[in-house]
Amino acid sequence: MIKIDTDNLPRHIAVIMDGNGRWAQKHTIGRIRGHRKGAHAVRTIVRACREIGIKYLTLFAFSVENWDRPPKEVQALMFLLEEYLRKELAELQEQEIRLTTIGDIDRLNPSVKEKLLHVKESTLKNDKMILNLALSYGAKDEIVYAVKKIMEDNKKGRIDIDELDKETFSKYLFTAGMPDPDLLIRTSGEYRISNFLLWQLAYTELYFTKVLWPDFKKDDLFKAIASYQKRERRFGLTSEQLKERNSQK
Ligand code: IPE
Ligand code: IPE
Ligand code: MG
Repeated sequence: MIKIDTDNLPRHIAVIMDGNGRWAQKHTIGRIRGHRKGAHAVRTIVRACREIGIKYLTLFAFSVENWDRPPKEVQALMFLLEEYLRKELAELQEQEIRLTTIGDIDRLNPSVKEKLLHVKESTLKNDKMILNLALSYGAKDEIVYAVKKIMEDNKKGRIDIDELDKETFSKYLFTAGMPDPDLLIRTSGEYRISNFLLWQLAYTELYFTKVLWPDFKKDDLFKAIASYQKRERRFGLTSEQLKERNSQK
């Protein structure tokens, strides 16, 4: 098992769970079975994050672009989501995990949406970890939506344009109130962001692995965290400045 320093954990981990289709292809089975196996990996990783004390876990489960996949695949993904919500509620409660979402959940079919609202509502008071699912999520849409809301609020006299700064802007995003991710993991050997959290990833440490999402285990998570812990997050400063600051703490 890879060793990690539990005193220096990322507060917020975001994951682009990619490679279910290629995993299925590798095992000469249908893509949908790949997604099912991917759902198992979600359970493993949620459990592992909760166990080590990660406070926020954001999982990219379905993008706005994914709506254009073959209807059968979209349907299967919705079914798996519904199944996940149904089966997982008890464990989320037991583990005191709160479920939240980002994205346009109004586009989900009514029965999935209803289950989602139920799980969100039921877990509202849980505070050990936030499991944040990105569903029908697109970062550019999120930013445009934020701008529209700001313009509306401006018209209503609720916000003065001179007051608008990056902190205020953040409050108009789906992720309002959440810290930005410290670590982003993308599986399956793709090196892109795919319209995920464009604003929030400004200073996130990026970690890419060739492991396909259905194969991603606790040990792979630990590898990603260990890599994160070896890095120096400078936020534009020099290494010397950071050392000086740390010694003053
Ligand atoms: C990720 O796996 C799951 C979703 C995007 C819903 P993919 O289905 O994208 O798998 P690949 O990229 O085709 O292997
Ligand atoms: C990103 O994966 C979206 C999710 C993991 C849900 P995709 O497989 O859709 O991304 P691209 O199309 O390869 O960039
Ligand atoms: Mg993919």
